[in-house]
Amino acid sequence: MIFRQLFDGVSGTYTYLLASRRGGEALIIDPVLEKVDRYLQLIAELDLKLVKAADTHLHADHVTGLGALRDRTRCITVMGEMSRVDVVSLRIAEGDKLRIEGLSLDVLYTPGHTDDSYSFLMGDRVFTGDTLLIRGTGRTDFQNGDARAQYDSIFGKLLKLPEDTLVFPAHDYKGETVSTIGEEKRFNPRLQVKSVDEYIELMGKLKLPNPKLMDVAVPANLHVGLHQEEIAKRGWALSPADAMKLLGRPEIVLVDLREPNEREKHGVIPGSLHAPYGEIARHVQSGGMLRALMRNERTRIVFYCAFGERSAMAVQAARDAGLAAACHIAGGMDAWKKAAGPVERRVDAI
Ligand SMILES: [Fe+2]
Repeated sequence: MIFRQLFDGVSGTYTYLLASRRGGEALIIDPVLEKVDRYLQLIAELDLKLVKAADTHLHADHVTGLGALRDRTRCITVMGEMSRVDVVSLRIAEGDKLRIEGLSLDVLYTPGHTDDSYSFLMGDRVFTGDTLLIRGTGRTDFQNGDARAQYDSIFGKLLKLPEDTLVFPAHDYKGETVSTIGEEKRFNPRLQVKSVDEYIELMGKLKLPNPKLMDVAVPANLHVGLHQEEIAKRGWALSPADAMKLLGRPEIVLVDLREPNEREKHGVIPGSLHAPYGEIARHVQSGGMLRALMRNERTRIVFYCAFGERSAMAVQAARDAGLAAACHIAGGMDAWKKAAGPVERRVDAI
């Protein structure tokens, strides 16, 4: 496995780059905007393909690198379903798996620092975001923070993991890089409390100044969505209502770009094919499935995904590969459902 812990000295943020092998798919967790060039250089040096960029929560102390990495690599942006961020490509929830080739991370919903804080468990290690820090815990006094929820997340979930589980947080300000669940249980001063009320009292007394970048970072981080208007301006987007009128027409090929677990959870548009976003480059090249389908000049491909991000990028990829008759459903399945479009629960492996 390739595992890199990268540091941004300005915000004290740790960013993690994960891959199962050289030449394989990579995931980055909590990237910082100013460091995007460095990440991309390292990704190239290690011969990796960045396929997903995830934030553990809405950060207040730095601007996320999610949007820039998406724009430069066409990777999928990932955040939790509780996040208020305008658009991310993939939303995950407690019990979901965050997957790339050869690696699978369990998603834990661990609110408290913010109401959109998640931790990711991967075998012997857990990425705790700002929920559990080394000898500390994330503050709970803004962004819908809640000391009671954080107590429950830490004592009810994280500290229940095996004691030798490695703890990799999103921040450290003293140069500590890693800890374990057992160490934090015993030596984290904030966790030496006898009750949830004692913890709430302790967190209430901290009186920390707001992060320097908070007024810049939070608004910026709320708006990381791909500018789907560009695709719409070129006439490559259909509203859900327009797409509904095309359902069942023989020349229309609907292609669902989501992952199998999203399809199971949220259902599919009847009659659509399945081609996960990560495979789309292959499908639009010569010999690929979509290219073969479009040999018929009348065929029109309509991509869709969860929120319209992956499908907008797929339209661009198809057009770049010379497939002019590709468009997408703006706003994805989310918009489709709001427009009362038909949804099929049965999922066939096509
Ligand atoms: Fe944070």
